[in-house]
Amino acid sequence: MTTNTFDFVGGGHGEWKVISMATVSGQAMETVTHLDILPNLKNTLNRGIWTLTGFTSNVRYAEKAEREKLIAVQQDLGRPSATCAALIPIRKSEAWWAMAQDDRRRIFEAKSHHTETGLKYLPAIARRLYHCRDIGQPFDFLTWFEYAPEDSDRFEELVKSLRTTEEWKYVDREIDIRLTKA
Ligand code: HEM
Repeated sequence: MTTNTFDFVGGGHGEWKVISMATVSGQAMETVTHLDILPNLKNTLNRGIWTLTGFTSNVRYAEKAEREKLIAVQQDLGRPSATCAALIPIRKSEAWWAMAQDDRRRIFEAKSHHTETGLKYLPAIARRLYHCRDIGQPFDFLTWFEYAPEDSDRFEELVKSLRTTEEWKYVDREIDIRLTKA
């Protein structure tokens, strides 16, 4: 059976080697040396030092034209050349979640240009968004990116630029974990 729910298991071994873990905002996480991404196994003991669980879902904000642009250029995860990765767990504030969907979309795109900016970095950066709000997790999203070493600087530029936006004023916890294929 296939699943859309995955465990990001941080510990002492795994497919990805952690090269840095930075607390951008909010409470820090315990440092680990490796990470594995595994299909979620319900009712099993936590593996590793910590486990973050998230599920893939339908889009919330992307409009038809944006989706078409994304589909036309985006690359799949797992490219052999993409030996660098980033796991950036993010939680947004109560003020964000108290807003109506259309107000959130306005901040996300009209004011912060999240998709428009992100599209400039495709296809070099492959991405997947996992949701984890309302399932008892410490974050609202687990964001995952894969790219080749030669695109590291561009990824840095993208992350830096998103963090200056109005959307990011609503991010109250963010951990930036950089990895390389072990
Ligand atoms: C690589 C280029 C990127 C593109 C093309 C992109 C595109 C998108 C799109 C289209 C969505 C909306 C999905 C929906 O409609 O539900 C989204 C959501 C999100 N992205 Fe990005 N993104 C990129 C990079 C990033 C980066 C670098 C971060 C983190 C530093 C990030 C964090 C998020 C978060 C947290 C959400 C969920 C926002 C919410 O629902 O409140 N994205 N992204």
